[in-house]
Amino acid sequence: MNDAQIIDGKAIAADLTDKLAVRTKVFVAKTGNAPCLAVVLVGDDPASAVYVRNKGKTAEKVGFKSIQKILPADTPEDKLIKIINDFNNDDGINGILVQLPLPDHIDEGKIIDLIAPEKDVDGFHPINVGRLGAGDFVNALIPCTPAGSVILAKSALGDNLSGMNAVIIGRSNIVGKPVAQLLLKENCTVTIAHSRTKDLPDVVRSADIVVAAVGRPEMIKGDWIKSGATVIDVGINRVDAPEKGDGKTKLVGDVNFGEASQVAGAITPVPGGVGPMTIALLMENTFTAACRQHGLSIA
Ligand SMILES: NC(=O)c1ccc[n+]([C@@H]2O[C@H](COP(=O)([O-])OP(=O)(O)OC[C@H]3O[C@@H](n4cnc5c(N)ncnc54)[C@H](OP(=O)(O)O)[C@@H]3O)[C@@H](O)[C@H]2O)c1
Repeated sequence: MNDAQIIDGKAIAADLTDKLAVRTKVFVAKTGNAPCLAVVLVGDDPASAVYVRNKGKTAEKVGFKSIQKILPADTPEDKLIKIINDFNNDDGINGILVQLPLPDHIDEGKIIDLIAPEKDVDGFHPINVGRLGAGDFVNALIPCTPAGSVILAKSALGDNLSGMNAVIIGRSNIVGKPVAQLLLKENCTVTIAHSRTKDLPDVVRSADIVVAAVGRPEMIKGDWIKSGATVIDVGINRVDAPEKGDGKTKLVGDVNFGEASQVAGAITPVPGGVGPMTIALLMENTFTAACRQHGLSIA
């Protein structure tokens, strides 16, 4: 029994954005323009509204221009398509993000396909998915949450992850699969587990690195974790918290933090782990996109 190192995603993200603010000043001095991130929100989902606000605030903090297009839930698909096309054609906009999920009447896949791949700072366009799959890290834009997860693993384990057993629980296109690609690039031996995996606790017990991206509160128990393993908890689940008062809620991850932190070598908390990294990596992607569009090296 030990006490795991708590990986402070908030501090690591703040360090990244502080450094990015300095690099942005150099970019502005070279080009005369700040990188510009355009975020589109359709509808009034309160969680999405908070995410979009935070993205705008962080963009401004690092010295970017921030455009936020907030549209009503009944916005016709055609109107959204026109906005994306305008953003694609606007040389002053370097990164475009459409906050997901979109209302049911809008075809999400169609909208993602429409974003110019070089401005697709979420890394969800099929061209960027393909580049990541093919190992083309020079041209790809990498999804933010997976990239942030790997940085957090390295913050605990050092830069060399070669030969480590990584088990990823979850195979979504936005988290599980891209994390797997990134850890493969780091020469990990990668297992992707999902809802049909047999003997999941045993599979997880083989892992030096566990990445949990399931969306089920505290599903991964302490006795699934190998002693000393590094645990990256991507899950964000809102659950009732009667201990905080009537009707109160709290956020928990996919890992039972209390149990796992007794066994793991290092673990991310929820909140304060992967979450803040997602926004920091979105800023990195916007900067990368802006540098590429200006033919500058990404220093
Ligand atoms: N920190 C961040 O910024 C951030 C960003 C994105 C997502 N998240 C959070 O990460 C979590 C995962 O998100 P997602 O979009 O990847 O979710 P998702 O699309 O719902 O995928 C969940 C995955 O978990 C697997 N799964 C479900 N139940 C399982 C079980 N009992 N045993 C094993 N695997 C199981 C599913 O398997 P099948 O494929 O077989 O159905 C699926 O592959 C959510 O809590 C989400 O809120 C956080």
